[in-house]
Amino acid sequence: MTNRKTENPEKLLITTLSGIKEPSTPIWLMRQAGRYLPEYRKLRVNTNSFLDLCYSPDMATTITLQPIRRFNLDAAIVFSDILVIPDALGQEVKFVEGEGPRLGPMNEDRGHLSLDKQKFLSHLSPVYETIQKISSSDIGKTAIIGFAGAPWTIATYMIEGGPTKTFSKVKGWSYRDPDSFERLINGLVVAITWHLEQQIQAGAEVIQIFDSWAGVLSPKSFHRWVIKPTRQIVQNIKNSYSHIPIIGFPRGAGIGYVDYVNETKVNAVSLDTTVPTRWAAENIPKDCVLQGNLDPDALLNGGIPMLEHIRTILRDFSERNHVFNLGHGVLPTTPINNVETLIKTVKSYNSSN
Ligand code: CP3
Repeated sequence: MTNRKTENPEKLLITTLSGIKEPSTPIWLMRQAGRYLPEYRKLRVNTNSFLDLCYSPDMATTITLQPIRRFNLDAAIVFSDILVIPDALGQEVKFVEGEGPRLGPMNEDRGHLSLDKQKFLSHLSPVYETIQKISSSDIGKTAIIGFAGAPWTIATYMIEGGPTKTFSKVKGWSYRDPDSFERLINGLVVAITWHLEQQIQAGAEVIQIFDSWAGVLSPKSFHRWVIKPTRQIVQNIKNSYSHIPIIGFPRGAGIGYVDYVNETKVNAVSLDTTVPTRWAAENIPKDCVLQGNLDPDALLNGGIPMLEHIRTILRDFSERNHVFNLGHGVLPTTPINNVETLIKTVKSYNSSN
Protein backbone atom coordinates (compact mmCIF):
# COMPACT_ATOMS: atom_id res chain seq x y z
CA MET A 1 0.00 0.00 0.00
CA THR A 2 1.22 3.49 -0.82
CA ASN A 3 0.64 6.76 0.93
CA ARG A 4 -0.84 9.73 -0.87
CA LYS A 5 -1.06 13.41 -0.09
CA THR A 6 -4.34 15.08 0.89
CA GLU A 7 -4.58 17.05 -2.33
CA ASN A 8 -5.47 13.82 -4.11
CA PRO A 9 -7.76 14.94 -6.91
CA GLU A 10 -9.52 11.58 -7.10
CA LYS A 11 -12.49 10.27 -5.17
CA LEU A 12 -11.61 9.21 -1.62
CA LEU A 13 -13.84 6.12 -1.64
CA ILE A 14 -12.36 4.83 -4.88
CA THR A 15 -8.70 5.38 -4.01
CA THR A 16 -9.29 3.75 -0.61
CA LEU A 17 -11.01 0.75 -2.22
CA SER A 18 -8.16 0.51 -4.71
CA GLY A 19 -5.75 -0.16 -1.84
CA ILE A 20 -4.30 3.32 -1.34
CA LYS A 21 -3.92 4.26 2.33
CA GLU A 22 -5.44 7.74 2.50
CA PRO A 23 -4.99 10.13 5.42
CA SER A 24 -8.76 10.27 5.99
CA THR A 25 -11.47 7.62 6.17
CA PRO A 26 -14.29 7.72 3.61
CA ILE A 27 -17.84 7.35 4.93
CA TRP A 28 -21.22 6.40 3.51
CA LEU A 29 -24.18 4.67 5.16
CA MET A 30 -26.28 1.73 4.06
CA ARG A 31 -29.87 3.00 3.61
CA GLN A 32 -28.59 6.57 3.71
CA ALA A 33 -31.57 7.54 1.55
CA GLY A 34 -34.77 6.59 3.30
CA ARG A 35 -37.42 7.16 5.90
CA TYR A 36 -35.27 8.89 8.55
CA LEU A 37 -35.01 11.87 6.12
CA PRO A 38 -38.03 14.24 6.20
CA GLU A 39 -37.43 15.12 2.53
CA TYR A 40 -37.74 11.40 1.65
CA ARG A 41 -40.96 10.99 3.67
CA LYS A 42 -42.39 14.03 1.91
CA LEU A 43 -41.77 12.53 -1.53
CA ARG A 44 -42.87 9.08 -0.38
CA VAL A 45 -46.39 10.13 0.77
CA ASN A 46 -47.21 11.17 -2.78
CA THR A 47 -46.32 7.78 -4.27
CA ASN A 48 -48.33 4.62 -3.78
CA SER A 49 -45.74 2.03 -4.37
CA PHE A 50 -42.12 1.91 -3.36
CA LEU A 51 -41.23 0.14 -6.62
CA ASP A 52 -42.80 3.02 -8.60
CA LEU A 53 -40.28 5.29 -6.89
CA CYS A 54 -37.42 2.94 -7.80
CA TYR A 55 -38.57 2.98 -11.44
CA SER A 56 -38.98 6.78 -11.75
CA PRO A 57 -35.53 8.07 -12.77
CA ASP A 58 -36.25 11.68 -11.78
CA MET A 59 -37.54 10.80 -8.33
CA ALA A 60 -34.97 8.06 -7.75
CA THR A 61 -32.20 10.53 -8.67
CA THR A 62 -33.60 13.16 -6.30
CA ILE A 63 -33.83 10.60 -3.48
CA THR A 64 -30.33 9.25 -4.12
CA LEU A 65 -28.98 12.77 -3.85
CA GLN A 66 -30.98 13.82 -0.76
CA PRO A 67 -28.39 12.56 1.75
CA ILE A 68 -25.55 13.94 -0.44
CA ARG A 69 -27.06 17.43 -0.40
CA ARG A 70 -27.47 17.29 3.37
CA PHE A 71 -24.29 15.56 4.57
CA ASN A 72 -20.60 15.30 3.73
CA LEU A 73 -20.72 11.71 2.43
CA ASP A 74 -18.21 10.06 0.09
CA ALA A 75 -20.68 7.95 -1.86
CA ALA A 76 -24.17 7.99 -3.34
CA ILE A 77 -25.81 4.56 -3.58
CA VAL A 78 -28.43 4.39 -6.30
CA PHE A 79 -31.97 4.38 -4.90
CA SER A 80 -33.34 0.99 -5.87
CA ASP A 81 -33.83 -2.39 -4.17
CA ILE A 82 -32.45 -5.92 -4.32
CA LEU A 83 -35.95 -7.18 -5.19
CA VAL A 84 -36.04 -5.46 -8.59
CA ILE A 85 -34.39 -8.66 -9.88
CA PRO A 86 -37.28 -11.06 -9.14
CA ASP A 87 -39.61 -8.30 -10.37
CA ALA A 88 -37.71 -8.10 -13.68
CA LEU A 89 -37.79 -11.92 -13.91
CA GLY A 90 -41.59 -11.81 -13.90
CA GLN A 91 -42.37 -12.65 -10.26
CA GLU A 92 -44.87 -10.32 -8.59
CA VAL A 93 -43.17 -8.08 -5.97
CA LYS A 94 -45.10 -5.74 -3.66
CA PHE A 95 -44.04 -3.76 -0.63
CA VAL A 96 -46.69 -3.74 2.09
CA GLU A 97 -46.54 -0.78 4.49
CA GLY A 98 -45.23 -1.91 7.87
CA GLU A 99 -44.73 -5.52 6.72
CA GLY A 100 -42.03 -5.42 4.07
CA PRO A 101 -41.88 -7.21 0.74
CA ARG A 102 -44.47 -9.74 -0.47
CA LEU A 103 -43.73 -11.86 -3.53
CA GLY A 104 -46.14 -13.86 -5.67
CA PRO A 105 -45.55 -17.44 -6.88
CA MET A 106 -42.22 -18.14 -8.55
CA ASN A 107 -41.90 -18.21 -12.30
CA GLU A 108 -39.61 -21.23 -12.78
CA ASP A 109 -39.64 -24.89 -13.67
CA ARG A 110 -37.44 -27.01 -11.34
CA GLY A 111 -34.99 -24.14 -10.98
CA HIS A 112 -35.08 -23.05 -14.65
CA LEU A 113 -35.77 -19.32 -14.73
CA SER A 114 -36.87 -17.83 -18.01
CA LEU A 115 -33.90 -15.62 -18.72
CA ASP A 116 -34.50 -13.15 -21.54
CA LYS A 117 -31.69 -10.61 -21.41
CA GLN A 118 -33.37 -7.96 -23.50
CA LYS A 119 -36.66 -8.16 -21.61
CA PHE A 120 -34.84 -8.16 -18.26
CA LEU A 121 -32.66 -5.15 -19.05
CA SER A 122 -35.50 -3.20 -20.59
CA HIS A 123 -37.57 -3.75 -17.40
CA LEU A 124 -34.66 -2.39 -15.35
CA SER A 125 -33.77 0.43 -17.75
CA PRO A 126 -35.12 3.11 -15.32
CA VAL A 127 -32.43 2.05 -12.83
CA TYR A 128 -29.72 2.60 -15.45
CA GLU A 129 -31.28 5.90 -16.45
CA THR A 130 -31.19 6.95 -12.78
CA ILE A 131 -27.46 6.19 -12.62
CA GLN A 132 -26.86 8.24 -15.77
CA LYS A 133 -28.75 11.14 -14.23
CA ILE A 134 -26.77 10.90 -11.00
CA SER A 135 -23.51 10.80 -13.01
CA SER A 136 -24.36 13.95 -14.89
CA SER A 137 -25.48 15.85 -11.79
CA ASP A 138 -23.23 18.02 -9.68
CA ILE A 139 -21.82 15.50 -7.18
CA GLY A 140 -18.16 16.52 -7.08
CA LYS A 141 -16.03 13.86 -5.45
CA THR A 142 -18.93 11.67 -4.39
CA ALA A 143 -18.53 8.16 -5.82
CA ILE A 144 -21.53 6.33 -7.32
CA ILE A 145 -22.31 2.88 -5.94
CA GLY A 146 -24.42 0.39 -7.89
CA PHE A 147 -25.63 -2.80 -6.19
CA ALA A 148 -27.47 -6.08 -6.35
CA GLY A 149 -28.59 -8.74 -3.91
CA ALA A 150 -26.55 -11.94 -3.94
CA PRO A 151 -28.19 -15.12 -5.33
CA TRP A 152 -28.79 -16.75 -1.93
CA THR A 153 -30.53 -13.69 -0.44
CA ILE A 154 -32.64 -13.07 -3.55
CA ALA A 155 -33.56 -16.78 -3.62
CA THR A 156 -34.73 -16.61 0.01
CA TYR A 157 -37.21 -13.84 -0.86
CA MET A 158 -38.32 -15.57 -4.08
CA ILE A 159 -38.95 -18.90 -2.38
CA GLU A 160 -40.26 -17.76 1.03
CA GLY A 161 -42.43 -15.07 -0.60
CA GLY A 162 -41.44 -12.47 2.01
CA PRO A 163 -39.60 -12.06 5.29
CA THR A 164 -39.05 -15.28 7.26
CA LYS A 165 -37.59 -16.26 10.62
CA THR A 166 -37.03 -19.94 9.79
CA PHE A 167 -35.91 -20.05 6.13
CA SER A 168 -37.53 -23.50 6.06
CA LYS A 169 -38.82 -23.36 2.47
CA VAL A 170 -35.58 -22.17 0.89
CA LYS A 171 -33.40 -24.45 3.03
CA GLY A 172 -35.82 -27.31 2.46
CA TRP A 173 -35.48 -26.99 -1.30
CA SER A 174 -31.67 -26.73 -1.09
CA TYR A 175 -31.47 -29.99 0.94
CA ARG A 176 -34.17 -31.98 -0.89
CA ASP A 177 -33.16 -31.11 -4.43
CA PRO A 178 -29.75 -29.40 -4.53
CA ASP A 179 -29.45 -29.86 -8.32
CA SER A 180 -32.53 -27.82 -9.17
CA PHE A 181 -31.67 -25.33 -6.42
CA GLU A 182 -28.22 -24.92 -7.94
CA ARG A 183 -29.85 -24.30 -11.32
CA LEU A 184 -31.89 -21.51 -9.74
CA ILE A 185 -28.80 -19.99 -8.09
CA ASN A 186 -26.86 -20.20 -11.37
CA GLY A 187 -29.71 -18.48 -13.20
CA LEU A 188 -29.61 -15.71 -10.62
CA VAL A 189 -25.83 -15.40 -11.11
CA VAL A 190 -26.53 -14.68 -14.80
CA ALA A 191 -29.27 -12.11 -14.10
CA ILE A 192 -27.27 -10.38 -11.35
CA THR A 193 -24.22 -10.15 -13.65
CA TRP A 194 -26.36 -8.51 -16.38
CA HIS A 195 -27.76 -6.03 -13.87
CA LEU A 196 -24.36 -5.10 -12.43
CA GLU A 197 -22.69 -4.77 -15.85
CA GLN A 198 -25.45 -2.48 -17.01
CA GLN A 199 -25.13 -0.32 -13.88
CA ILE A 200 -21.39 0.01 -14.52
CA GLN A 201 -22.03 0.99 -18.13
CA ALA A 202 -24.46 3.64 -16.90
CA GLY A 203 -21.83 5.14 -14.56
CA ALA A 204 -21.60 3.10 -11.34
CA GLU A 205 -18.01 3.33 -10.08
CA VAL A 206 -18.23 0.81 -7.23
CA ILE A 207 -20.42 -2.28 -6.75
CA GLN A 208 -21.82 -3.69 -3.52
CA ILE A 209 -23.29 -7.20 -3.33
CA PHE A 210 -25.78 -7.59 -0.45
CA ASP A 211 -26.07 -11.09 1.03
CA SER A 212 -28.25 -10.18 3.99
CA TRP A 213 -29.12 -13.79 4.90
CA ALA A 214 -25.66 -15.34 4.50
CA GLY A 215 -25.60 -15.93 8.27
CA VAL A 216 -28.32 -18.59 8.43
CA LEU A 217 -26.40 -21.34 6.62
CA SER A 218 -24.27 -24.27 7.77
CA PRO A 219 -20.58 -23.97 6.74
CA LYS A 220 -21.01 -26.37 3.80
CA SER A 221 -24.12 -24.59 2.53
CA PHE A 222 -22.45 -21.21 3.08
CA HIS A 223 -19.70 -22.35 0.76
CA ARG A 224 -22.03 -23.66 -1.92
CA TRP A 225 -24.79 -21.03 -1.88
CA VAL A 226 -22.90 -17.90 -0.79
CA ILE A 227 -19.19 -18.14 -1.64
CA LYS A 228 -19.36 -20.08 -4.92
CA PRO A 229 -21.99 -17.98 -6.73
CA THR A 230 -20.50 -14.73 -5.40
CA ARG A 231 -17.06 -15.76 -6.68
CA GLN A 232 -18.67 -16.37 -10.09
CA ILE A 233 -20.28 -12.91 -10.13
CA VAL A 234 -17.01 -11.25 -9.08
CA GLN A 235 -15.16 -13.11 -11.87
CA ASN A 236 -17.79 -12.15 -14.44
CA ILE A 237 -17.54 -8.46 -13.51
CA LYS A 238 -13.73 -8.50 -13.28
CA ASN A 239 -13.52 -10.05 -16.78
CA SER A 240 -14.99 -6.93 -18.34
CA TYR A 241 -14.45 -4.28 -15.67
CA SER A 242 -11.29 -5.14 -13.77
CA HIS A 243 -10.98 -1.57 -12.43
CA ILE A 244 -14.35 -1.53 -10.65
CA PRO A 245 -14.02 -2.23 -6.89
CA ILE A 246 -16.49 -4.78 -5.52
CA ILE A 247 -17.68 -4.75 -1.89
CA GLY A 248 -19.23 -7.97 -0.56
CA PHE A 249 -21.63 -8.02 2.40
CA PRO A 250 -22.15 -11.57 3.71
CA ARG A 251 -24.11 -10.40 6.73
CA GLY A 252 -23.84 -12.67 9.75
CA ALA A 253 -21.05 -14.82 8.26
CA GLY A 254 -18.97 -14.81 11.49
CA ILE A 255 -15.60 -16.50 11.00
CA GLY A 256 -16.86 -17.40 7.50
CA TYR A 257 -15.89 -13.82 6.54
CA VAL A 258 -12.29 -15.04 6.13
CA ASP A 259 -13.11 -17.80 3.60
CA TYR A 260 -15.55 -15.45 1.88
CA VAL A 261 -12.81 -12.85 1.30
CA ASN A 262 -10.15 -15.39 0.29
CA GLU A 263 -12.38 -17.25 -2.14
CA THR A 264 -14.67 -14.65 -3.69
CA LYS A 265 -11.82 -12.15 -4.32
CA VAL A 266 -13.96 -9.14 -3.44
CA ASN A 267 -11.91 -5.95 -3.02
CA ALA A 268 -13.67 -5.00 0.20
CA VAL A 269 -15.94 -6.59 2.73
CA SER A 270 -18.74 -4.95 4.69
CA LEU A 271 -18.72 -6.14 8.30
CA ASP A 272 -21.98 -6.54 10.19
CA THR A 273 -22.28 -5.19 13.74
CA THR A 274 -21.50 -8.51 15.43
CA VAL A 275 -17.96 -8.79 13.97
CA PRO A 276 -15.29 -7.82 16.56
CA THR A 277 -13.21 -5.06 14.96
CA ARG A 278 -9.88 -6.24 16.38
CA TRP A 279 -10.53 -9.78 15.17
CA ALA A 280 -11.36 -8.46 11.69
CA ALA A 281 -8.28 -6.21 11.58
CA GLU A 282 -6.06 -9.18 12.43
CA ASN A 283 -7.74 -12.03 10.57
CA ILE A 284 -9.18 -10.67 7.34
CA PRO A 285 -6.52 -10.72 4.60
CA LYS A 286 -4.61 -7.44 4.49
CA ASP A 287 -5.28 -6.72 0.81
CA CYS A 288 -9.03 -6.60 1.50
CA VAL A 289 -10.52 -3.24 2.48
CA LEU A 290 -12.76 -3.32 5.58
CA GLN A 291 -16.09 -1.51 5.66
CA GLY A 292 -18.32 -0.97 8.70
CA ASN A 293 -19.47 -1.58 11.33
CA LEU A 294 -21.23 0.83 13.70
CA ASP A 295 -24.39 -0.58 15.25
CA PRO A 296 -27.40 1.20 13.67
CA ASP A 297 -28.96 1.27 17.16
CA ALA A 298 -25.89 3.13 18.50
CA LEU A 299 -26.49 5.70 15.76
CA LEU A 300 -30.18 5.90 16.60
CA ASN A 301 -29.50 6.48 20.30
CA GLY A 302 -26.48 8.76 19.89
CA GLY A 303 -24.62 10.37 22.81
CA ILE A 304 -21.42 9.13 24.46
CA PRO A 305 -21.96 5.41 23.67
CA MET A 306 -22.13 6.27 19.95
CA LEU A 307 -18.97 8.41 20.13
CA GLU A 308 -17.09 5.68 21.99
CA HIS A 309 -18.19 3.07 19.47
CA ILE A 310 -17.12 5.29 16.52
CA ARG A 311 -13.68 5.91 18.04
CA THR A 312 -13.13 2.23 18.80
CA ILE A 313 -13.86 1.35 15.16
CA LEU A 314 -11.55 4.09 13.85
CA ARG A 315 -8.76 3.08 16.24
CA ASP A 316 -9.04 -0.66 15.58
CA PHE A 317 -8.98 -0.14 11.80
CA SER A 318 -6.31 2.60 11.81
CA GLU A 319 -3.70 0.26 10.28
CA ARG A 320 -6.12 -0.98 7.63
CA ASN A 321 -7.75 0.54 4.58
CA HIS A 322 -11.16 1.30 6.01
CA VAL A 323 -14.48 2.68 4.79
CA PHE A 324 -16.69 3.87 7.63
CA ASN A 325 -20.24 2.51 7.52
CA LEU A 326 -22.90 0.91 9.68
CA GLY A 327 -23.19 -2.82 10.32
CA HIS A 328 -26.63 -2.69 8.62
CA GLY A 329 -28.99 0.01 7.31
CA VAL A 330 -29.93 3.33 8.97
CA LEU A 331 -33.08 2.78 11.07
CA PRO A 332 -36.15 4.86 10.12
CA THR A 333 -36.39 6.70 13.49
CA THR A 334 -32.72 7.77 13.56
CA PRO A 335 -32.33 11.50 14.45
CA ILE A 336 -30.64 13.56 11.73
CA ASN A 337 -28.41 15.19 14.38
CA ASN A 338 -26.84 11.86 15.23
CA VAL A 339 -25.98 11.26 11.58
CA GLU A 340 -24.39 14.72 11.45
CA THR A 341 -22.37 14.01 14.60
CA LEU A 342 -21.21 10.65 13.22
CA ILE A 343 -19.97 12.16 9.96
CA LYS A 344 -18.28 15.09 11.73
CA THR A 345 -16.54 12.72 14.15
CA VAL A 346 -15.21 10.51 11.36
CA LYS A 347 -14.14 13.47 9.23
CA SER A 348 -12.29 15.19 12.10
CA TYR A 349 -10.68 12.01 13.46
CA ASN A 350 -7.44 12.41 11.51
CA SER A 351 -6.80 15.99 12.47
CA SER A 352 -7.28 15.00 16.13
CA ASN A 353 -4.84 12.07 15.97
O1 CP3 B 1 -29.88 4.07 0.55
C1 CP3 B 1 -29.65 2.89 0.17
O2 CP3 B 1 -29.03 2.07 0.87
C2 CP3 B 1 -30.03 2.49 -1.24
C3 CP3 B 1 -31.28 1.86 -1.43
C4 CP3 B 1 -31.57 0.47 -0.87
C5 CP3 B 1 -32.86 0.09 -0.45
N1 CP3 B 1 -32.86 -1.24 -0.18
C6 CP3 B 1 -34.00 1.02 -0.35
C7 CP3 B 1 -35.19 0.63 0.42
C8 CP3 B 1 -30.76 -0.67 -0.79
C9 CP3 B 1 -29.27 -0.83 -1.08
C10 CP3 B 1 -31.59 -1.75 -0.36
C11 CP3 B 1 -31.11 -3.14 -0.19
C12 CP3 B 1 -32.03 -4.15 0.34
N2 CP3 B 1 -33.38 -4.28 0.12
C13 CP3 B 1 -31.61 -5.27 1.10
C14 CP3 B 1 -30.17 -5.59 1.47
C15 CP3 B 1 -29.72 -4.83 2.65
C16 CP3 B 1 -30.42 -5.20 3.93
O3 CP3 B 1 -31.19 -4.32 4.42
O4 CP3 B 1 -30.24 -6.31 4.43
C17 CP3 B 1 -32.75 -6.03 1.39
C18 CP3 B 1 -32.80 -7.31 2.20
C19 CP3 B 1 -33.86 -5.40 0.76
C20 CP3 B 1 -35.27 -5.85 0.72
C21 CP3 B 1 -36.17 -4.89 1.36
N3 CP3 B 1 -36.50 -3.65 0.83
C22 CP3 B 1 -36.87 -5.03 2.57
C23 CP3 B 1 -36.78 -6.23 3.50
C24 CP3 B 1 -37.63 -3.87 2.76
C25 CP3 B 1 -38.64 -3.59 3.85
C26 CP3 B 1 -38.01 -3.20 5.12
C27 CP3 B 1 -37.97 -1.71 5.24
O5 CP3 B 1 -36.94 -1.18 5.69
O6 CP3 B 1 -38.96 -1.08 4.87
C28 CP3 B 1 -37.35 -2.99 1.67
C29 CP3 B 1 -37.92 -1.64 1.44
C30 CP3 B 1 -36.95 -0.53 1.22
N4 CP3 B 1 -35.82 -0.60 0.47
C31 CP3 B 1 -37.09 0.82 1.70
C32 CP3 B 1 -36.00 1.53 1.20
C33 CP3 B 1 -35.72 3.01 1.36
C34 CP3 B 1 -38.25 1.35 2.53
C35 CP3 B 1 -39.40 1.57 1.60
C36 CP3 B 1 -40.36 2.64 2.06
O7 CP3 B 1 -40.07 3.82 1.87
O8 CP3 B 1 -41.43 2.28 2.54
